[in-house]
Amino acid sequence: MLFPQSVRIDGATGAMSIETGRYVKRLSELRPIFHDKPALDHDVAALDDPQVYEVVEYRKPGSDIFFGTTTMEPGKVGNEFYMTRGHFHARRDMGEVYYTQSGEGVLLLQSRGGETSVLEMRPGACAFIPPDWAHRSINTGQEKLVFVWVCNPEAGHDYADIMQRGMRKLVVERDGKVAVIDSPTHP
Ligand code: F6R
Ligand code: ZN
Repeated sequence: MLFPQSVRIDGATGAMSIETGRYVKRLSELRPIFHDKPALDHDVAALDDPQVYEVVEYRKPGSDIFFGTTTMEPGKVGNEFYMTRGHFHARRDMGEVYYTQSGEGVLLLQSRGGETSVLEMRPGACAFIPPDWAHRSINTGQEKLVFVWVCNPEAGHDYADIMQRGMRKLVVERDGKVAVIDSPTHP
């Protein structure tokens, strides 16, 4: 039998009072997803390969749900805001929930058929990510973007498609504003 557990989450940092795993993604590991490679190479060298985001999780073996936080740093590569790799779930029948705790950003979604959806991420916004929609979060603000995610531990990740083709939309800064534009490399 599994026992209930309360985990405290710091909404400003994404820190969890109990965690069972974590990883960090640095800018050099995200080279394939950003368009402006010279800007990326410059920033990796000049900023000593900065951290772009960190994922912390709480997982209970035997449970059908697990959860965690993703904490994204503010920043841009050229005019493209810092973003996660983006993925479909390996299990096509499993969706996810993203609940934004702090900061501001954009959640880009894309169905297998190529439909796109753009959801705002700001404190209190709770996003329903349907099964078989790829999802990528983008920090468009000046502060950390922190969100809690909840899904089935069997959902898994399928990074290949988004890694190779990118998503249909890009989130960039244009004339000092956040703009969602069509990707030149994924018509
Ligand atoms: C899990 C999930 C999040 C992301 C995390 C990092 O299904 O959606 O925990 O894994 O925000 O994003 P990726 O995995 O796209 O680098
Ligand atoms: Zn996911």
